[in-house]
Amino acid sequence: MQPRRPPLMAGLAPRQTLRFLKDPFALIEEGTRLHGDIFSIRFLGFGTWTFLASPEHVKTMFKAPADVLVAGEANRAQLGFMLGTDATFSLDGEAHRQRQRLVHPPLNGQRQIHPHVPLIGRLTRRMIAAWPTDRALPFLAAAHRLSLEVMIHTLLAASDDTELDALGDLFDRFAGRGLRSPLIAMPYLQWDLGRFSPWGRVMHLRGRVMDAFRQQIRRRCDSPEDFDDVVGRMATTAQKDGSYLTESALLEEVVNLLFAGHETTGTILTWTLECLLAHPEVLQRLLAELDDVLADRPVAAEHLDQLPYLQAVIHEAIRFRPIAPMAGVRLVKEAFAIGDYELAPGSLVVQCFPAMARRPELFARPEHFDPEHFYQRKMQPFTWNPFGGGTRMCIGRGLAELELKVALATLLQQVELTLAQDSVRPVRNGFFFAPNQGLQITWRPRQR
Ligand code: HEM
Repeated sequence: MQPRRPPLMAGLAPRQTLRFLKDPFALIEEGTRLHGDIFSIRFLGFGTWTFLASPEHVKTMFKAPADVLVAGEANRAQLGFMLGTDATFSLDGEAHRQRQRLVHPPLNGQRQIHPHVPLIGRLTRRMIAAWPTDRALPFLAAAHRLSLEVMIHTLLAASDDTELDALGDLFDRFAGRGLRSPLIAMPYLQWDLGRFSPWGRVMHLRGRVMDAFRQQIRRRCDSPEDFDDVVGRMATTAQKDGSYLTESALLEEVVNLLFAGHETTGTILTWTLECLLAHPEVLQRLLAELDDVLADRPVAAEHLDQLPYLQAVIHEAIRFRPIAPMAGVRLVKEAFAIGDYELAPGSLVVQCFPAMARRPELFARPEHFDPEHFYQRKMQPFTWNPFGGGTRMCIGRGLAELELKVALATLLQQVELTLAQDSVRPVRNGFFFAPNQGLQITWRPRQR
């Protein structure tokens, strides 16, 4: 008997691919409307993808044996050409477990990440000071730059600001022209025809980024006693078999962390601001909480637990304005059952986060931006997974949430923002979806 496959959306693969590239949210909305919680789409050059939109199915996916639903190989296939193949994101099996043991500890736990609170506040104030007050500018670019700086300063804290700023400039240019290039989602157009061809330019910039970060890493490998920071610790921590990470593995890890950490967080910070500007009553309530807890003081680690509405606002913005059509991708290595269906080996399966985020039994007003969805509420397991799940859950979730809270609180304490564009809608910005025009805003010092 033939295995029962998830329902396949009608339409030829080239057309579905174009639709997905242009507006994946509309395509998956149609998929859930026509087929419910599980459906597949065939893409040109990417095979069949099954989208999961119910907590039970997503739980099955995240709890599946790591050698049956495989993450690293799926990630490598999508991003290996840009991010390499030797980092937590792209490894599988024992190599992944070993690497996770090395990369996870310095980026997680309050003792490790709370000391970064003053840094995030300082970098946010620096962003505000550099922002012109006489004209509108896209907030997205500033937010990406801020998140990038937070990541670079966190990873390489022992280097001085001038060096780190130069690295930020270089990576920012690479991210702008490379990681956010429209070619990034179209592997069939990625032809490196030399430095002056569109893709050749991206690869040239990538080479310069790798060279600059390699120098930083080499210094940490050569004299680790001089560098007490996250990368220094990774360089000097022995793996289970007693060996140390090679210089090239460390380099890939750092570039992966910068990629994974800055576009996601910067885009979410931008959407959160957009949601607040569109909902003045929510902004007023948040300002009241911030004034109550902080008065005029800079945000400190001990304030974080006293700002539940800030946390609810950020979670609601992540829910209401998803930055990607999926959160967590796995390659099916062996036939695997989900619900009444069997996934075919060689296909991909993903958590369809935007559809999960609109389930009416989980969120009382799914089509509205309403922080009450999260305010003082504990979500049930597998109902709220913007950071993926299982053994591949995002390594940077604690740091990302910390950055979002501290940056947003610092910003709102200091400035009043006004939207300077007529309407806002999500558009593709590299891998993620961000506000069109980058969210044009003006700001001025906050009047109290
Ligand atoms: C709000 C911001 C962020 C979001 C929404 C996000 C989301 C995700 C998602 C959905 C995954 C895939 C999980 C899975 O396959 O189940 C992931 C993986 C990952 N993220 Fe994040 N992320 C964010 C910020 C960060 C930051 C700041 C860092 C670095 C400090 C980071 C580092 C990573 C790494 C290394 C992985 C691969 C983990 C593995 O495969 O074992 N992310 N993230």
